[in-house]
Amino acid sequence: MIELKGKKALVTGGSRGIGRAIAEELSQAGCDVAINFLRNKKAAEDVAKNLKKPPLLLKGNVSNEKDVSSMFEVIQKEWGALDIVVSNAASGVLKPPMELTLHHWHWTLDINSWALLALAQKAVPLMKNGGKIIGISSLGSVRAIPNYTLVGASKAALESIVRHLAQELASKKINVNAISAGVVDTDALKHFSNRDQLISNSQQKTPAGRLVEPKDVAKVALFLCSDLSEMIHGQTIIIDGGYSIVA
Ligand SMILES: NC(=O)c1ccc[n+]([C@@H]2O[C@H](COP(=O)([O-])OP(=O)(O)OC[C@H]3O[C@@H](n4cnc5c(N)ncnc54)[C@H](OP(=O)(O)O)[C@@H]3O)[C@@H](O)[C@H]2O)c1
Repeated sequence: MIELKGKKALVTGGSRGIGRAIAEELSQAGCDVAINFLRNKKAAEDVAKNLKKPPLLLKGNVSNEKDVSSMFEVIQKEWGALDIVVSNAASGVLKPPMELTLHHWHWTLDINSWALLALAQKAVPLMKNGGKIIGISSLGSVRAIPNYTLVGASKAALESIVRHLAQELASKKINVNAISAGVVDTDALKHFSNRDQLISNSQQKTPAGRLVEPKDVAKVALFLCSDLSEMIHGQTIIIDGGYSIVA
C-alpha cells in the first residue's frame, strides 16, 4: 500500500478517462487533489463525489498561459505548495500528414507538449521539498499510426521535454517521467474513425490478453509519485500489456 497522505497533486484532464483514474488513485493514497478540466464541469463534479476529500476543481485550457496562471493562483492560495503534477490533458488533430496545417500543429503541440513545460515552470517554485512531475504519452511517439502524425509528434516532444526537465530538476529532488500507454478505451477513441479496428487489433496482439485500462495507468502513476521511484529520472515507462514488444 503506497501512502501519500497530505501530498498535494494536480492532475490535468482529471475529469475523465485516464486522468480521472489517476485522480482517484492519488486520492485513495491520501493526496489532496486538484482536478483540471476544460469543458465538461459535470464530469469533474462526478469525480469529486468519488474522492476521499473534496478536490479543487480548476477549469482551464492547459495551452492558455492565462488559464494556467489562474489555476496556479488558486493552488497557491488554497495550498501554498504542490508535490505532484500529472500532465495528462491532451487533444489533437487526426489527419493524414499531407492535410495538416500550421494551425493544426499549434493546436496539438500547444496542448500536448507545451503544457508540460508551462505546468512545470509554475509548479517547481511550489515544490519546496521535492516533487514528482509526470507526462502521459502514447506509443505513437515512436510508431507510425494512420492519422496520428501530430499527436505522435506531440508525444515525442513530450518525452524529450521530460528528459530535459528531469536533468534540470533532479538536484531539487524532483523526478520527471512519462508513462506511455497502449490503447485504452476512453472517450478519446471516439475521435478515431477506425476505433473498432484499433481496439480489436490491440486486443488480438497484446500478449497480456486484454486492453490496458485507465486503472492500470493510474497504478504506474501512483508508483512514480511514491518514494519507491526515487532514482527514476527522465524515463518513459511503457504500459501496454506487451503490445509493443511483439513483432
Ligand atoms: N485513450 C488512449 O488510448 C490513450 C493511449 C495512450 C495515451 N493516452 C493519453 O492519456 C491522456 C488521457 O487520455 P484519455 O484517453 O483519458 O482522454 P479523454 O478521456 O478524452 O479525457 C481528456 C481529458 O482532458 C481534458 N482536456 C482536453 N483538452 C484540454 C485542455 N486543452 N485543457 C485542459 N483539459 C483538457 C478533458 O476535459 P473536458 O472533458 O472538460 O474537455 C478530459 O478531462 C492523454 O494524454 C492521451 O494522449 C491515451
